[in-house]
Formats: sequence, structure tokens, C-alpha cells
Amino acid sequence: MEKVLTLHHDTPELWKLDNYRSKGGYDGLEKALKEMEPDQIIGMVRDAGLRGRGGAGFPSGVKWGFLPKDDRPRYLICNADESEPGTFKDRVLLEQDPHHIIEGIVITCFAVKASLAFVYMRGEFFLGAQRMQAAIDEAYEAGYLGKNILGTGLDVDILVHRGAGAYICGEETGLIESLEGKRAYPRIKPPFPANIGAFGMPTVVNNAETLANVPHIILKGQEWFNSIGPERNRGTRMFCVSGKVQKPGVYELPLGVPLRDIIFDYAGGLHEGRTLKAVIPGGGSARILTADEAMQVDSDFDSLQRAGSMGGSGGIMVLDDTVCIVQSTYIIAEFFHDESCGQCSPCREGTGWVEKILHRVEYGEGRPGDIDLMLRMGENIFGRTICPLGDASVWPTESAINKFRDEFEYHIREKSCLPGTESIL
Ligand code: NAI
Ligand code: SF4
Repeated sequence: MEKVLTLHHDTPELWKLDNYRSKGGYDGLEKALKEMEPDQIIGMVRDAGLRGRGGAGFPSGVKWGFLPKDDRPRYLICNADESEPGTFKDRVLLEQDPHHIIEGIVITCFAVKASLAFVYMRGEFFLGAQRMQAAIDEAYEAGYLGKNILGTGLDVDILVHRGAGAYICGEETGLIESLEGKRAYPRIKPPFPANIGAFGMPTVVNNAETLANVPHIILKGQEWFNSIGPERNRGTRMFCVSGKVQKPGVYELPLGVPLRDIIFDYAGGLHEGRTLKAVIPGGGSARILTADEAMQVDSDFDSLQRAGSMGGSGGIMVLDDTVCIVQSTYIIAEFFHDESCGQCSPCREGTGWVEKILHRVEYGEGRPGDIDLMLRMGENIFGRTICPLGDASVWPTESAINKFRDEFEYHIREKSCLPGTESIL
């Protein structure tokens, strides 16, 4: 299967406009602006079945269709605050191929009738920010941005806003607060940003990879897009494979490719003599899969959900038999506690308590009853918070305990890791 988003990533200096143009870049924009109407584009993206690549997998055309039919100004935000553990695909697009994202943004602005877009970028993406700003400058110069784009009367401006390294700024309403100059406290939804978003105006928030798909759908049509991947899970995905594999990296593949193929064929399989222990398939928030579960599941959103986990941000973390499950669970718990914005008590306090208990279990000070205590704490966080970070903090610990309970019990009883597992801290 041919790649779509990363097809030209071997082209030297693809981030420069001339090189992007030489590969057909901005042809999708020309077609959209000169041959199509905004509603036609929304319908095409909806019928193509493009689902959001940031994590939730929400249908993009449907999201655009939620915008109210009034004449308030509206904004588009490209969410490039990629911070989910094990996820590094947007970074690749920003650094290698920023015009691809810009082209998707301008077409989307035309479709949803927005004239100002923001690229909210993770603060640590220094090179990505430089390349994106340089690409925006080139696009203005060439008439792909600014006033009267390609002589069609369309005006679109893009502003780059760099975050300061907080995971919660990737949550769309936290992001909007941050963009408005405030602390990134997520808002209660509804109202959704589609109705009340940035600066109180209707706002579409789409992930960078999602937007990069739009020019291809415009150029090749919804039927082409529908021919890739299983029903309800169309298109390719930039899977990020990390952990105990021989060739970690970003692999663009059709949604639905078996997880087994991604790990063992594309990412080169495990290191010599090792066996698969577990896989975390959708970034750090996803429920862990045992080796057996991982070997039987496909990589699309729906298959992973049916398997009790999720496709999430496309980060696939591979754990072999040398990995201590208690330690890896502790590392994830520490991350969520660190990144909790502190707005709701169950998340602020609960993530800290779970981290503390996991720390003592990992370091030989676990107490009988600690395992059930952590499960009970999870029950008191889950569904009781403003944003999904609270729920996301529960899934890794709860699933690791349910699937690898023996290993947690061993730690408490023997005050050490299972023989053969090693510390990565
Ligand atoms: P969500 O399901 O609440 O929303 C998905 C999108 O659809 C949002 O843009 C929302 O505004 C829109 N939407 C849903 N129902 C709507 C309605 N009735 N009217 C208007 N708009 C509506 O999920 P959320 O909170 O946006 O994302 C959670 C996911 O984000 C997690 O599953 C996780 O995988 C992912 N994530 C990704 C990260 C990354 O670095 N890529 C970081 C952290 C989390
Ligand atoms: Fe903040 Fe956690 Fe509440 Fe989300 S769930 S708003 S991160 S305290």
C-alpha cells in the first residue's frame, strides 16, 4: 500500500515551498478554491469518513458540520501540542512537511468559513516551530496565505502559538484557555468549542495529521479514501512505534493493519531472544494489552476499542519480557500526576496517591491491600473530573493490575521485581 501523508518524506528539504510544490503540493488547495463550494468540501470529508488523528477519532466532517449557522467570526485551531507519551508523528509532519499542514488548514478554513487559524505547537518543538514559521512566511509570499488567496477572494491568516510544555494544553479547551493568555484549565463541555471556543467564538480544533489528510481527499475523492482501511476506520495512520523493538519510528500504514504486523514486520520485531509481554497501543492513556491480546487485534479505532483499549494518538509502546510492569505503570502514573492541572480534586489528589502507592510497591515497601486500594482510588477518579485526563490516568493502572496482578503481588510479597525484569529508571 502506497503511503499518503509521508509519501514524499524522503525528498530533500521537503519543508521548502519549491520542493513541496514539485510533489504536487497545493494542488488540493487550487482545486478546492477554484472548483468547489465550502459545503461540498464538508460533505466530501464527512462522506470520506476521516476521523480525528489526535486521539478521540471523532469524524472530522461531522465536527465541522456542528458550527452554528450565524455570522460570528470563527476560528480554526491546528492542535500540534502533541504530548501523549509514545507519540511523535505530528513532530515529523511539522519538521519535514509543514506546507502539508498549511495546505490542510487553508482548505479547512475555506470549508468552515474561518479567516484566522492558529497552529498551537508544543513548546519543545523548536525545529518544528522554526520550519512551520518559515513555511508560513513562504506561503504568504507565494499567495497561498493572506489576502485574496490565489485570486479567489479568500483571506486566511495563520498565527503560530507555542506552548510552554504542559500536557494539558493539548486538551482542546485547555489549549483554548492557554491561547487566550490564561492558565490552561480545561472547560466543562458542553458547550463544545464548535459553539463557544476561542475568544467566545465558534472554533474548530483539529489535529495536525487530520488536517494533512484534507488535501488528498479533495484531490483524489472520497471513494479513494474509502478504499483504504476497514469500514468506519478509513485512511492511513502515522503509527509511532517505540519501546523494545528493533526499529522504533513512525510508520504510515492503512488503519486496520494487524498490530502484529506493525510490531514484527515494520518495526523489525523484538530484540534477539526476547518474547513479547505486553503492548500499550494508543499512547500512555490506553489500557495495556497482553501479548496474546495484542497478537490478535487490528490497529483501527474500532478493533482496539472492542479489545478494551483504544487507538488514541497512534503511539504503540512495546514491552518485552525484560520490562517490569509495575515500574512501567509507575512511570505513567508519575506522568499523569505531574501533568494534572489541579483543577478537580479527584484528579489532583487521586493521581498523586496512586503514584505514591505505586512508588512504594515498586521500591519494596508495598503493603498488603495496596493493590485493591489503587483500584478503589481509580473508581473515585473515573467519571468525576472535568476533562479526560482524570479517566486517562485510571486506565493504565487499572488494566495493568487486572492483567498482571501476579506481578504486583510478587512485588509486595518479595519486595523486588520479577527475576529477569530490569529497572529502566
Ligand atoms: P472528545 O470525544 O470529547 O471530543 C472529540 C472532538 O469532537 C472534540 O473536538 C469535541 O469538541 C468534538 N465533539 C464531540 N462531541 C461534540 C458535539 N456534540 N458537538 C460539537 N463538538 C463535539 O475527546 P477529546 O477530549 O477531544 O480527546 C480525548 C483524546 O485525546 C483521548 O482519547 C486521547 O487519546 C487524546 N489525547 C491525545 C494527545 C496527543 O498528544 N495527541 C494528548 C492527550 C490526549
Ligand atoms: Fe485538570 Fe485533571 Fe480536572 Fe483535567 S481532570 S481539569 S487535568 S484536574
